[in-house]
Amino acid sequence: MQLDLTNLKIAKSQLLTREYDEKVRQIHKILHSEDHAAGTTWVHWPLNYDKKEFGKIKRLAKHIRENFDALLVVGIGGSYLGAKSGIDMLKKGKGVEVVFAGTSFDYVDLYEKLEHLKDKRVFVNVVSKSGTTVEILSTLSMVENFMKKKYGKDYRKNMVFTTDKNKGYLKKLSSEGFDCLVVPDDMGGRYSVLSAVGLLPFACAGLNIDKIMEGAKAAYNDLLEEKLENNLAYQYAVYRNLVNYKLDKKLEIFSTFSSKLSSFGAWLTQLFDESEGKDKKGLFVSSLVFSTDLHSVGQFIQEGSPILAETFIDVFAPLKNASVKGLRADSPIKFLEGKSFDEINRAAFLGTVKAHSEAGVPIAVLKIDEISEINYGYMVYFFEIACATSSYLQGVNPFNQPGVEQYKSYMKELLKK
Ligand code: PA5
Repeated sequence: MQLDLTNLKIAKSQLLTREYDEKVRQIHKILHSEDHAAGTTWVHWPLNYDKKEFGKIKRLAKHIRENFDALLVVGIGGSYLGAKSGIDMLKKGKGVEVVFAGTSFDYVDLYEKLEHLKDKRVFVNVVSKSGTTVEILSTLSMVENFMKKKYGKDYRKNMVFTTDKNKGYLKKLSSEGFDCLVVPDDMGGRYSVLSAVGLLPFACAGLNIDKIMEGAKAAYNDLLEEKLENNLAYQYAVYRNLVNYKLDKKLEIFSTFSSKLSSFGAWLTQLFDESEGKDKKGLFVSSLVFSTDLHSVGQFIQEGSPILAETFIDVFAPLKNASVKGLRADSPIKFLEGKSFDEINRAAFLGTVKAHSEAGVPIAVLKIDEISEINYGYMVYFFEIACATSSYLQGVNPFNQPGVEQYKSYMKELLKK
């Protein structure tokens, strides 16, 4: 992975200061301490992940791939976005279909998904670390009825819960005969994609989870360096801090020209917004896929309120031999005849970076050479480290979400009346 800072509105000398270096070294110590109670179990996870559990995930995924048509994953927030991001980026049609539910209270959506699955052999994975999330337990009630109808009294053997090792309602329910996978201790939802939370859906979808963990381990090794000058994730975190405070930007957009990264953008959005958006601080993160979104929000980026910074994830998945052919003589795009879609997409990317940069938008470019399991694992770990560091630089705890808890408790109060 490369971080291209050439379009920054910030000089490298402002980034690599002694003050930031010292701050980052302190953050490095917190992240790499063995005191996992701070919520940092995920930091050493690429090395220390539970190999026995990993084996169980692979065996279960094989069973599901061989005996079922679809995996229905019931999860929300960090218990779903990571899994979806990897599958949407990497799926090549080898595994079973993975359908996500429990992501809202939209009954029509759930009903349509269950209708779609009605004549298929379905295995269910309910994912909830707390085991108490309202969306999940209410969806589970529908899904259990669906599974009972389909498989009779033995339906439980076609379901698995991914939840806390010892506590929570799902764990309690598992004593009725549901098998469980573990969300490790002190690993919050949005940092849990490399545990069973993401790995079971990945393996069911036919992704190579060994390679994903290999990529995460490569990032772990690259980011072991506590010195700001030698650590790209720390540099990127400092860059965000400068964008926020020095350039007074309030928003960061993750932009990509690869549609396969659309859900990865949604995962990034949650990772950063839920980690950093506290105490009236933080850059609000959003994500866009170009050129689609250039035709909707491109105008604002170019000429609207100057509140934005943009981070491009530059990863192309070129399809060989896909080019524009047979244009009519009078076509207004005749100059594209024979050009590959990749070439056109790259020109759109370069043109967009130039235009947005000239409009005063601070731009960082993170480059990945190809879409692959290894790079996916690498990016997940890179952004987790960058996000936690950025949050600590803001002076907030990256691993809680008190604001989300607030809405849940108000909603429950209303529904109990
Ligand atoms: O990142 C987080 O911790 C949250 O987004 C949770 O993943 C989300 O609220 C779902 O929680 P749970 O897994 O407990 O059902």
